[in-house]
Amino acid sequence: MENLSRRKVLTLGAALGIAGMAGTTGTAWAWSGKGSIAGSGTGADPFQVWDDTADAVAKALLAEGRIPAVNTAWQGWIDNNAPLPAGMPDYLVAYLRQVNKLPSWADPAKLAASEKLYTRLSSYLFVSETLGSGIMSTVIPREARAVYWSAGGADMKQRAAKTFTFGYDLHNSKAWAPDGHFVVTANKTRLVHAVVRNLLPTSAKYQDGADQPKPISNGDILRTFHSVATFARSNMLKWNIALSTAEQDADLHAWQVALHLLGVQEQFIPQTWADAEAQAQQMLWPVLGPTDEGVSLAKTLLGYIEKPTLGLDSGFVNELVRYLLNDQMGDWLGLPRDYAQAALIRIEWPAYVAFREGASKIMPGSFSLFDQFVRGISMLYLNNGTSPTQTPITLPTANRPG
Ligand code: HEM
Repeated sequence: MENLSRRKVLTLGAALGIAGMAGTTGTAWAWSGKGSIAGSGTGADPFQVWDDTADAVAKALLAEGRIPAVNTAWQGWIDNNAPLPAGMPDYLVAYLRQVNKLPSWADPAKLAASEKLYTRLSSYLFVSETLGSGIMSTVIPREARAVYWSAGGADMKQRAAKTFTFGYDLHNSKAWAPDGHFVVTANKTRLVHAVVRNLLPTSAKYQDGADQPKPISNGDILRTFHSVATFARSNMLKWNIALSTAEQDADLHAWQVALHLLGVQEQFIPQTWADAEAQAQQMLWPVLGPTDEGVSLAKTLLGYIEKPTLGLDSGFVNELVRYLLNDQMGDWLGLPRDYAQAALIRIEWPAYVAFREGASKIMPGSFSLFDQFVRGISMLYLNNGTSPTQTPITLPTANRPG
């Protein structure tokens, strides 16, 4: 028994139906629904809740072999106010009519404030989301394994570009406007996840280490939300970027609506940042750890970000990842050390942000290095977002080949 790996223990826990064990660290789900936007909860564990309606639609699309036709039909369906495209089965149209809209509690003023905020902060958000959250996703064991064994895991460049589409559309000056894209992008993403929930359980290699009956539960989506949004907010505060209370509210509100559009129930969506922090303490930080799949994904992703794309030294990139995450995560991923770059980043990144934000008049010596980096990261998003060939989000038809 003493040699049981963590993954095997989790698998065993799931098989035995030990409540909450599959999603947390062996303790039952304890976050109170009182801290949710619903104001109360049924006591359900979000790691035991999936997205039944979307999953049934995806199941039918797969069974009827309709996915390629749907991908073709919805290619030009991009704007929030665009009519649903022709050429899709009736049950998909009926489903989208129900979900492709803002919830009644969405606050247009807060959404408009989030557009302004994200436009102001976009370059910092892109840094936090690529080298921070993007690499953190490879040490979230369930996410790393799901991504690796799904079709997109075999082509991480394209997969990353598709994820950029989501980030770009959310952090856009007209994300929620009639001619913005985010509502449609979120709905497409929700359906991708539903297809993945039907496909991955048929992958023997994925199932070999699976610890839940199907992937991407409500809890898993919230965990990723914390690794992106809760983490980004804490970075902005750590870097002394001015954020008013109203701006922080707007940021959270945009994500509350985004989580709703991704199929997360209101009883699990945090009401305040304090509630979000409490949830992240329970569901994100304790479960991080290395997997073979995650180490492989991180290597591939970092390879795209370094020399070929941004002309950056790998020592700089590796140390920036360690700075954004921490040394334990860097060690899990086997990122080689470069102590000179580490010292430079620790001292000069805060100085760079302070100078850029007008909080300091002293331009750090490495200003141009950081500026090249920040601009390069932003271009990764913007090229993808503004190019006429913006990588479209498509439904997969199979798992990772081989
Ligand atoms: C696909 C975003 C949570 C696993 C996608 C896509 C986006 C996205 C934009 C479409 C791009 C693509 O096809 O690659 C998000 C967001 C999340 C979230 C914003 C939460 C806030 C999760 C979680 C998991 C997951 C928790 C697994 C545990 C996947 C997989 C795909 C996918 C396997 C399909 C990749 C393929 O094409 O084969 N996600 N995701 N996602 N996501 Fe997520």
